Amino acid sequence: MKTELSTRLGVEHAIFGFTPFPAVAAAITRAGGFGVLGAVRYAAGEDLARDLDWMQEHTDGKPYGLDVVMPAKKVEGVSEADIEAMIPQEHRAFVAETLAKHGVPELAEGEASGWRITGWLEQVARSQLDVAFDYPVKLLANALGSPPADVVARAHDRGILVAALAGSARHALHHKNAGLDVVVAQGYEAGGHTGEIASMVLTPEVVEAVDPLPVLAAGGIGSGEQIAAGLALGAQGVWLGSIWLTTEEAELHSAALTAKLLAAGSGDTVRSRALTGKPARQLRTAWTDAWDDPQGPGPLPMPLQGLLVAEAVSRIQKYEVEPLLGTPVGQIVGRMTSTRSVRAVFDDLTRGFERAIDRVNRIAGRD
Ligand SMILES: Cc1cc2nc3c(=O)[nH]c(=O)nc-3n(C[C@H](O)[C@H](O)[C@H](O)COP(=O)(O)O)c2cc1C
Repeated sequence: MKTELSTRLGVEHAIFGFTPFPAVAAAITRAGGFGVLGAVRYAAGEDLARDLDWMQEHTDGKPYGLDVVMPAKKVEGVSEADIEAMIPQEHRAFVAETLAKHGVPELAEGEASGWRITGWLEQVARSQLDVAFDYPVKLLANALGSPPADVVARAHDRGILVAALAGSARHALHHKNAGLDVVVAQGYEAGGHTGEIASMVLTPEVVEAVDPLPVLAAGGIGSGEQIAAGLALGAQGVWLGSIWLTTEEAELHSAALTAKLLAAGSGDTVRSRALTGKPARQLRTAWTDAWDDPQGPGPLPMPLQGLLVAEAVSRIQKYEVEPLLGTPVGQIVGRMTSTRSVRAVFDDLTRGFERAIDRVNRIAGRD
């Protein structure tokens, strides 16, 4: 499955895989795709360096990328403590109440919250880039807007392609004007932060808006047939996130969460601000219901909500409190019905793609 973009990056298949787990990213790259490691959970540079060292050793010299979350709106000169101080007491009480209602135990004395999204702070994302630029990363992607001009210039100086996610043609055009090389058109169905336009409508709009820049179709892709659809809409490749969550290599560290994902249908997700303050598609749980309940205080804007709920999410994950346990995941969760290796998922995608092309030709009477 070669396209101009996959050839430019030196990969066999134009299948890009976003994942927060180094073992998954490396396995996608080894299978012939392009693994992209999500950096948002890395607070300290050393941890990212350790995992990039590991990626280097486990990718057989094949290319991989890094994804950071640098919000377009800057939060400058404000520390994490300053932001914490802006959180209203009412919201803190609501978190405590919701946890108590479900009997969620406290963390042990002095135990740090493991779930902490600090990567959205520009200074943290920049420190991640300082680390990443010492590695042969081939593509740098940004989740929430075009990266600042100096970051784009630093990447280009090193021969790194710069990509960004877009949920609308307007966002995509902004990326093109900011000098980016690749746009990921991410539809409403996708796991994680997502806009309101479905992939079927979004992909061709973005392709047209940024022409001749290459576009990757993202959101709701979990089969070779869906990959063929993305290419038919004008994309030069596809970008998949959810499908890897139930692979053997994924380090979810929660049998209960994996079981929930495997059991969920395509209607069991919700686009909610419960986790980060921005609409993000995730499993629908008692936690998202509580935040989306009009009787409650409702979520705070990003970045406040992420800080507010960090410890609560850690506690829910650690003690696997089933009704509240969730994760970002897209509607494609309905297809995730067994735990398989990344290689098995990947081979299924490439085989399915060939089948889909044959089928289209057959249906259209071309063979
Ligand atoms: C668990 C999870 C975490 C995600 N975190 C990020 C992130 O940190 N940065 C980012 O650019 N996209 C993130 N995404 C979105 C993916 O990059 C991708 O666009 C999306 O998963 C594609 O749609 P799909 O979920 O239907 O495959 C995340 C997705 C999931 C499922």
